[in-house]
Amino acid sequence: MPDNTPAAEKRIPSFDLTRQNALLHDELISVISEVIEKGHFILGENVAALEEEIARLCGVRFAIGVANCSDALYLALLACGIGPGDEVITTPFTFFATGGAIARAGARPVFCDIDPVTYNIDPHRIEPLITERTKAILPVHLYGQPADMDPIIAIAEEHDLYVIEDAAQAIGATYKGRPVGSLGDVACISFFPTKNLGAFGDGGMVVTDDPDIADRVRILRVHGARKKYHSEIVGCNSRLDEIQAAVLRLKLQHLSTWTEKRRRIAKLYMELLESSPLFRSRNLRLPEEAPGTFHVYHQFTIALADRERLRAHLDENGIGSAVYYPVPLHLQGAFSALGYKFGDFPEAERASKEVLSLPMFPELTDDEVYRVAEAIREFK
Ligand SMILES: Cc1ncc(COP(=O)(O)O)c(C=O)c1O
Repeated sequence: MPDNTPAAEKRIPSFDLTRQNALLHDELISVISEVIEKGHFILGENVAALEEEIARLCGVRFAIGVANCSDALYLALLACGIGPGDEVITTPFTFFATGGAIARAGARPVFCDIDPVTYNIDPHRIEPLITERTKAILPVHLYGQPADMDPIIAIAEEHDLYVIEDAAQAIGATYKGRPVGSLGDVACISFFPTKNLGAFGDGGMVVTDDPDIADRVRILRVHGARKKYHSEIVGCNSRLDEIQAAVLRLKLQHLSTWTEKRRRIAKLYMELLESSPLFRSRNLRLPEEAPGTFHVYHQFTIALADRERLRAHLDENGIGSAVYYPVPLHLQGAFSALGYKFGDFPEAERASKEVLSLPMFPELTDDEVYRVAEAIREFK
C-alpha cells in the first residue's frame, strides 16, 4: 500500500538506509548477482580490489579486509606485538569495541579524558599516563572528526609508542590535509551498515604503510597461515567476504558525494541552530570542526544538560535521535576489574549524559533538517 502520509507528518528517523538502497537498487543487485554467479565467496577478487581502493583513499600502501572493525583493532594490536603486561592509552568516550579489543589482546586499557569540544582524546592529558608498560596510544576519530593527531604523534615518537587509529567512524576525513588511516602506524575502519561506507553485513579493514604490520595482519586473519593448513602463529578467522566487498566497491564510488551531502546537512543544522534561543542562552552546544580537520559528520552531535527532555520532545514530534554513548568505558561492568570509578573522567562522564545525535544521513532532505531544527527551537 502506498504511504500517503504528508511529508510534514512523516517520522524522521535518526538513520535510514532504505533511501540509499533504493537509489542504488539495480546496481547492487547486479554486483551481488555477479558474485553469486562466480561462486567464490570468501576473500577473492572484489576483496583484493577493495583493499587497493581503500589503501589509495587512505594514502597508504596496504589494506587488509577483515570481518569487522572490532577484529581490525584486535588484529592491529596483535600485529604491533601488544599483549599481556602491556598498556594502551585510549579514550573512555567511544564504542565498547575500542577498549574491548585492547582487553582481547590481553593488554590493559588505560583511559584518558577527552576534549569537551571535539569529544576526542585530549592530547594534553596523555603524557602523565605513560609508564614503562605503555606500548601504544589508540585515539578514536569520534563522530567522523579526526582526533588532534600531531601532539599525539609527537608524544608517541618521544616515548617510542605505536599509534593505532580507530577510524571506524571517519573514513574520508582528513587532518591537516592528511587522510585518516595514514596518521599513525596502523588504522582500523568499520563497514558496519550504518557507517559512512557501509556493507550489507559486518566488515572492516586494517590500513597501514608498514609492510611488517600488514604482513602480520594478513596472516592473523586466516589462523596465522601464510600457506593454507600451515599456521605460523595463532590467529583467528576474520575475513571479509566477496558480497560485502562488491557492495562496498559500488558504494565507494559515491562516498565523496555522500560526505559532501553530510557536510551540507551539518552546515544547514548549524545555521538554523546557531540562531536558536537554546544556543543563545548557552544551554545548547553544537559540534565544532577543529581548525585543520575535515569532519565527515558520521554523526551530527549536539549536547545539553537537559538531554532526556529534549530527546522526548523530539520523539513526540516524530523525530528520531540517538545517544552515542550513554556509558563511558571506564564505567562499563566488563572493565570493573580495572578499578576506575565515577568521577575519574569528568569530561567523558558529562558527555555521556549530555550528547544527542540528530538525524544524519546523506539522503536526509532540507525540509527534514528544517523540521528537526524547528522542533529544537520550540523546545522550552
Ligand atoms: C569507534 C568505533 N570503534 C570500533 C567499532 C567496531 O566496529 P564493528 O562494528 O565493525 O566491529 C565501532 C562500531 O560501531 C566504532 O564506532
